[in-house]
Amino acid sequence: MVSYGILFLGLFILFFTNEVCLLENGLAKTPPMGWMSWGYYMCADNCSANPDRCLNEELIMSVADAFYNEGYQEAGYEYIIIDDCWSERQRDEKGRLVPDHKRFPRGMKFLADYIHGKGLKFGMYLNIAVDTCMRYPGSRGHFRVDTKSLAEWDVDYVKVDGCFVEEEYLDIAYIKLGHYLNKTGRPMVYSCSWPYYKKYIHKHEPVYSQIVPICNMWRNYHDVAVKWGHVRYIYKFYEGMATEIGKYHGPGHWNDPDMLIVGTNALSPNQNRIQMSIWAMLSAPLIFSCDMKQVTADERRLLQNLQLIAVAQDPLGRMATPHKIQRDVTIWVKLHLPSKGDMFYSYSFAIVNLGTTSVSVTLRPRRYGLNSTDDYTVMDVFSGNMLKNMSAYASMEVIVPPEDVIMYSLFPL
Ligand code: GLA
Repeated sequence: MVSYGILFLGLFILFFTNEVCLLENGLAKTPPMGWMSWGYYMCADNCSANPDRCLNEELIMSVADAFYNEGYQEAGYEYIIIDDCWSERQRDEKGRLVPDHKRFPRGMKFLADYIHGKGLKFGMYLNIAVDTCMRYPGSRGHFRVDTKSLAEWDVDYVKVDGCFVEEEYLDIAYIKLGHYLNKTGRPMVYSCSWPYYKKYIHKHEPVYSQIVPICNMWRNYHDVAVKWGHVRYIYKFYEGMATEIGKYHGPGHWNDPDMLIVGTNALSPNQNRIQMSIWAMLSAPLIFSCDMKQVTADERRLLQNLQLIAVAQDPLGRMATPHKIQRDVTIWVKLHLPSKGDMFYSYSFAIVNLGTTSVSVTLRPRRYGLNSTDDYTVMDVFSGNMLKNMSAYASMEVIVPPEDVIMYSLFPL
């Protein structure tokens, strides 16, 4: 009872003392695309022992260089985000977070300027508790000063984690931190982990209608790791939940299935295709994490596949709907632009086979809402080839190899 009392009081203060203002920052109208340090580098702060895996200024600058020189920026990748483990262990005498002196000797404003100089954007990480998840200084009790520091450093995106807090505080903290972000006057994409902590740490269902007006994007589920098994678990979660959480998803507000690990060379080419195509079908943020020097030519081609990115970045921002047709086979269907008039939309289909043998699937577009009376032209998204024209009322046999995906976009003629 006491804790509910405190929660109520907290919410009362937030809502009725002008302490809350909604996000409305105009950002992330399409799902953010970029690179983030955590998935591959994690808390790489022991640079003398592991010079090749070191979260420091050179690393971040080298990612900006790779984005600029190697086609990622032209493909739409924009944000370069430093995750946990970037600060000194102590705040300064004014209570401000200080970037690690050895690893970030020129500070964060320098990095922001470098990244902006290449036409890219800069992201950082905070946690709402006393500590971050890796026990670096957290922002509890310092929301005002930390959001101000980020704004002064010209940060464009902030990932705010939710480790180590009680549920009542979790529900207030994301609102309050969002308020201070808005007060800085600097638009920053606000990435939250609120629903993840609510559901998996505090064991209560997230109230998405409360989260949508506060955050630009939010993690729903567990962390990805650099392993196929993790990608598969995440895939299964969204397969089960897409219909329920899809209604909260759209321009400015995105469900976030966590990072792409395409680029780490940890997945087979077909597993890479599954992660990439499903993240695109979900209109998920496409934020990858890898050593940019190790990306294979195939991975780079996939990361920069413009047909696929067009599906992911479609302005309507719909989450694909999964239709399970066999135990291991699902047809994902996504409505998107361009449309012919305002009636006949383009659609993409991703037919995923997680099984160990090839399957033959009959695709009948009409069954999934395609309604143009003229034909559709069918494009193979991975190759970019136009395969044929077909009526929505016709059917097409598709062979999907084991643990693989076939992805087609259909445009009304
Ligand atoms: C949590 C987040 C991860 C990463 C780590 C950093 O686990 O979910 O994405 O930010 O914390 O410690």
